[in-house]
Amino acid sequence: MNAAIPAAEPIPLPAPVWLMKFLGDLTLTIHFIFLYLLIGGLVLSAVWNFIGRRFGDKEAVGASGVVMSRLPIVMTYVINFGVPPLLFVQVLYGQVIYTATILIGLWWMSVIFAIMGAYFAIYRCSYLASAGRGYWGWGVLALLFILYVGKVYSTAMALMLRPEDWAGMYARSDFGVYFPPADATRLPRYLYMMVLSVGYGGLLTSLYSAKGSLEEGVKRFLRVWGGRVGGVFLILGLFIGLWAWQQQPVEVRNGVWGVGIVPYAVVVWALGLLMGVVASIWISLTPASWGYGKAYLAGAASVMGAGGYVILRDMVRDVTLMLKGFDVWQRVVNPNWYVIGLFFVSLLVGVGLLVWLYFILRSARPSIEKYV
Ligand code: HEM
Repeated sequence: MNAAIPAAEPIPLPAPVWLMKFLGDLTLTIHFIFLYLLIGGLVLSAVWNFIGRRFGDKEAVGASGVVMSRLPIVMTYVINFGVPPLLFVQVLYGQVIYTATILIGLWWMSVIFAIMGAYFAIYRCSYLASAGRGYWGWGVLALLFILYVGKVYSTAMALMLRPEDWAGMYARSDFGVYFPPADATRLPRYLYMMVLSVGYGGLLTSLYSAKGSLEEGVKRFLRVWGGRVGGVFLILGLFIGLWAWQQQPVEVRNGVWGVGIVPYAVVVWALGLLMGVVASIWISLTPASWGYGKAYLAGAASVMGAGGYVILRDMVRDVTLMLKGFDVWQRVVNPNWYVIGLFFVSLLVGVGLLVWLYFILRSARPSIEKYV
């Protein structure tokens, strides 16, 4: 074991490693999908609002308002689906993630304020959009906060894999004020997430054109530009993903290929991206007619692209840490099946309540529609 990695906590894991990993990867996939909607939505609505107001393009302004009005809710899902993977990653990889986040402590904690700033700016945009006023400046501000948060997360997740950097960082300052030293994997890793977010964000945004009450011109704008931006950025994301993979040390790449699930995850990831490109072209080129086929294809593409990537980055993490002497599969496990059972029962009840609430909302919609 690398001397910098602290000893495991004496308390054993309360559930098998595979179960925690499965739940962590599942919830992280959902976190990423909402992140795509948030980042892609912010970029598109800010740009469309700017263009629309600058050149008097009503369709661009209308489309940007449609997207922006949904972002406050999307943001709540980004945050709420960030919490579960954080809990799982802390339990499984506590020794490395706590060390990494403490070493960049100031930046790590500043994320709370950046998220609050982003929230404020997004609500401001949404208010200005509903009042028919321009808001692209607030949109750019929200985007800067969000890009900053993503950068800090990406840095922490990369630093937890580099115990060799920790002692030097601590010697330099124990106030958590410095970013880690250069690491070839960091930039492509971050860029991949941001660029792909615009890609899937564009694709998913084009689906808003299904809303029946929108003007035809706005629907067309959403379809054509959401689809075009989606297609271009998904292709870019594919290349940045390959670059990120190339930046991994050769022993990590060889080790990752040796893991049984990896070839399947690669196929799922690549198919997800290609299906996304096909859906983007399909949506942007077909006139007016709307079909569930496009929505299913776009939805499946996003889930596969996000899910495949989540598994791959998890395997890169495991192999990297294994090469440095930390094997998560060797953690002491003492499952408490009563507690695990209780967890699943409460999960089922929670999901059941959500479905029930959804149907109540749906049946109440006709009577509340005139107020919203
Ligand atoms: C708007 C705010 C947010 C943005 C822009 C954001 C962005 C990101 C990005 C870019 C990554 C990938 C990092 C990488 O692998 O390079 C990530 C991962 C992650 N995010 Fe978020 N995030 C946000 C909010 C949150 C919140 C509020 C939480 C938790 C409270 C959270 C928890 C996580 C966790 C735990 C991971 C990685 C999990 C793992 O490696 O297993 N995120 N996030």
